[in-house]
Amino acid sequence: MKPMFAPSILSCDPSQFRPAVKEILESSVDWLHFDVMDGQFVPPITFGADLVKSLRTLGDAQFEAHLMTETPDAHFDAFIAAGCTRVIFHAEATHHAHRLCQALHERDVQAGVAINPATPVDCLLPLVGTMDLALIMTVNPGWGGQRLIEECLQKVRVLRETAPALDIEVDGGIDPTTIGRAWEAGANVFVTGSYLMRAPSVAAGLDELRAACSSRS
Ligand code: DX5
Ligand code: ZN
Repeated sequence: MKPMFAPSILSCDPSQFRPAVKEILESSVDWLHFDVMDGQFVPPITFGADLVKSLRTLGDAQFEAHLMTETPDAHFDAFIAAGCTRVIFHAEATHHAHRLCQALHERDVQAGVAINPATPVDCLLPLVGTMDLALIMTVNPGWGGQRLIEECLQKVRVLRETAPALDIEVDGGIDPTTIGRAWEAGANVFVTGSYLMRAPSVAAGLDELRAACSSRS
């Protein structure tokens, strides 16, 4: 498995979204990660599908929407129409995670399921054959720039043992000092927000992150 990177623009000055996304998409990233917050599931409100659509033409990397929203399925079609090829919803926001994965597959996009730090990993185990990606939050969702919660990495270990080929994404507090432990635990997709915005350039930041992931078969 090779590490994959999904930068988030959450920590970016909104007036700079276009140049920031252009730079990210020119830095050979795998995915661009959109943090969609509705002011209900988490306190802040960020942006909607219109912004995603307006940035879609800037490059080739795939787009994923991380829906930190209540009623996640009410937003699927808008983000898919805007160009997202993976939609990640929170297990805590629905009684029907399996059905929502099916609904995304019917729309020909990948289904991701996220869990908050306080949610046990067990709720993801019945979805291993169905979801395309599990997102283990390594901070409490809502804000960029927080410290990674180490206990969350144990959930990554458990999931990786059960699902050797699953894409397991970690989100929150990922930088060169933490990514190695997340990688060792079994994560292979890394969301990075504030660290990349602080780095001298996105490309230089990604090089540092890659270097911190030792080889793993
Ligand atoms: C938090 C978001 C994250 C966040 C990560 O709710 O889901 O994607 O932007 O930002 P950093 O890398 O700064 O922790
Ligand atoms: Zn996110």
